[in-house]
Amino acid sequence: MIKRFAIVLAAGKGTRMKSDLYKVLHPVCGKPMVQHIVDQLEQCQIDEMVTIVGHGAEKVKGHLGERTQYALQAEQLGTGHAVMQAEQMLKNKQGITMVVCGDTPLLTRETMDALIEHHESTNAKATILTAYTNEPTGYGRVLRDSAGTVEKIVEQKDASEVEKQVKEINTGTYCFDNETLFEALKRVGNNNTQGEYYLPDVIEILQKDGEIVAAYQTEDFHETIGVNDRVALSQAEKWMKKRINEKWMREGVSFIDPEQTYISPDVTIGKDTTLHPGTVLLGETIIGERCQIGPHTEVKNSKIGDETVVKQSVVHSSLVGNWVAIGPFSHLRPETTLADHVRVGNFVELKKMSMGQGSKASHLSYLGDAEIGASVNVGCGSITVNYDGEKKYLTKIEDGAFIGCNSNLIAPVTVGKGSYVAAGSTITDNVPQESLAIARERQSNKEGYVKKK
Ligand code: UD1
Ligand code: CA
Repeated sequence: MIKRFAIVLAAGKGTRMKSDLYKVLHPVCGKPMVQHIVDQLEQCQIDEMVTIVGHGAEKVKGHLGERTQYALQAEQLGTGHAVMQAEQMLKNKQGITMVVCGDTPLLTRETMDALIEHHESTNAKATILTAYTNEPTGYGRVLRDSAGTVEKIVEQKDASEVEKQVKEINTGTYCFDNETLFEALKRVGNNNTQGEYYLPDVIEILQKDGEIVAAYQTEDFHETIGVNDRVALSQAEKWMKKRINEKWMREGVSFIDPEQTYISPDVTIGKDTTLHPGTVLLGETIIGERCQIGPHTEVKNSKIGDETVVKQSVVHSSLVGNWVAIGPFSHLRPETTLADHVRVGNFVELKKMSMGQGSKASHLSYLGDAEIGASVNVGCGSITVNYDGEKKYLTKIEDGAFIGCNSNLIAPVTVGKGSYVAAGSTITDNVPQESLAIARERQSNKEGYVKKK
């Protein structure tokens, strides 16, 4: 097997983004651009991956972790100079090196594979991935001779008026013979409008050397969009959203309005689930089958079972069972676990807690740091008082207990199995099982008071 190497260019600041966030970390459909690239590359059987970092190096490394090696480009002197930084790691190694920009988030592994295949089948020393577009402004143009052979790439800023008319663009993705690449890079100069060492200049150098230089043209320009500013970022978002949503529609998921449904690439959704407008599914969320999600609901890094309904709610880092009803207007904060047939309703906030099968908290409650058993009814306005200003404490409510409206359960405290807490109680002591706890002032009526006054 021929070895495969990959170099990801991610050192640029992204001046045109006008942002404090480094360009390749800007998210598209909830995931940083450079992470999209690394995720796709990982599926292409790459033996060694080197990411070139510079601006925001630590942040980029923080996102990508150990999945790739890194080379630092201390000064951003151009894409050719960036690739040079990987020389120490890759020189004298035999194989194919794919170079990909960290700002082309829509590129798929299928296209990367097709590029490698084309490169291998043509025996080329270099193959560029190109695309056609009616709006080529900003991209490098691919110049071919009358026989159609690629001669060179000219950057927008260096192009003549005639060259600017060319509609075939350099997508910024290439395959090279590894040793040839680093040898040719030594001969790239910076005598151009931007005073930068351009990677695409390698193409002309190899062409003039008489080497085989090939081009593989993808039919889908959208897939190759390079994100240099916020306008392109929003286009990338739109196209990726369309790609993701249509994939799920083909898998049997209904979208009431795909334009207004936002799903991250690593989400999975079961068939016959319906997503209503304003649904945002983020991170590594898993949604079961036959669910109704939304309208206006955000679910992040959570797992939701089958036939569960979540309306106008926020669910983060939580585990939700089957046949659960959430919302409208519920907030599940991290580490919430809801068993099957649980119901949580309007203005109920849950945090680091669990609720057993069939339990309910239908209105206006805060339940944090709590273990609630099965078939428990938490009345309207009940609160687990979990915090004394320094530490958090646990509330336990055992199976079948009934918590009357507007109760405060001052933790640490346990309400025993099958017990009742009278409405309006402030519970400071454990309640034994099968008891009634009343902890409030008795009512006294002053009869005739109004007349006397
Ligand atoms: C580049 C190509 C252009 C192509 C386009 C496709 C060059 C000279 N031009 O232009 O032909 O049509 O991509 O999207 O290569 N980077 C570094 N270090 C640097 C400079 C850039 O790591 O010194 C990284 C950036 O972070 C970015 C990528 O390389 O991820 C591309 O750089 P960018 O400045 O966006 O190049 P373009 O002008 O878009
Ligand atoms: Ca770019």
